[in-house]
Amino acid sequence: MKPGPIGVFDSGYGGLTVLKEFAKKLPQYDYYYLGDNARAPYGSRSFDTVYEYTFECVNRLFSEGCHLVILACNTASAKALRTIQQKDLNRFDSQKRVLGVIRPTTEIVQQYTQTNHVGIFATSGTVSSQSYPIEINKFYPEIMVHQEACPMWVPLVENNEIANPGADYFVQKHVDALLSKSSKIDTIILGCTHYPILLNQLRKFVPEHIKIVSQGEIVANSLQDYLLRHTELESLCSKNAQITFNTTDFPDNFDKGASIFWGTEVKSKHILL
Ligand code: DGL
Repeated sequence: MKPGPIGVFDSGYGGLTVLKEFAKKLPQYDYYYLGDNARAPYGSRSFDTVYEYTFECVNRLFSEGCHLVILACNTASAKALRTIQQKDLNRFDSQKRVLGVIRPTTEIVQQYTQTNHVGIFATSGTVSSQSYPIEINKFYPEIMVHQEACPMWVPLVENNEIANPGADYFVQKHVDALLSKSSKIDTIILGCTHYPILLNQLRKFVPEHIKIVSQGEIVANSLQDYLLRHTELESLCSKNAQITFNTTDFPDNFDKGASIFWGTEVKSKHILL
């Protein structure tokens, strides 16, 4: 079988915060990024719609030669990953794998909390799926999970409005709402791949003693570990240190928006699903 790039999928731009950490930690691999910008945001869509869109994109990544696909989107990981892993994967060749971003974070959350009270900021879809409380309590039943949906944060980030006072209003509103759920919260997980972009704004309103945990580095460490344990799949990951950016929307728009997440200019290609 021919080696191929590692597929990295998100509804739009957020997965770039994860891909950036992959490129830092595991620069030797090729990556094929796919942002479904034409149909983003996913955060408020139904379970069935998120599953259908995600599966279509995973299918496309497999056709592009990827053997391993990372859903670098919490909403897709919450609403589509399990069905794809349990129902769809056996229709492809047995080497294909799809992984998400929720499990790696929930596995190690205990390292961060002393009070056993953890807060989650995420999209409405991720919050209503209950994936974070379910996954965290599987490993650590003693941890209390407090969730807050922040439906305005993705549009603020995607429209490059985060440095404006209007953004502060929406950031503070959800920080206050989460912290009012328990005075014992000492750790907050950013359960949406867009949210690390808001870190400076969050730090203005989240008290200093509370840790804010972004997923990128955690997911990159987990991928490294996974590849070390699955040598047969690792050998199917091509290694020319190349990254290609692909979007279901207009590439010019993607390239402008992506620079907020990537830090430097990117040149994307349009793909039709
Ligand atoms: N980046 C996605 C996540 O991690 C959310 C963006 C969206 O709503 O499409 O959940």
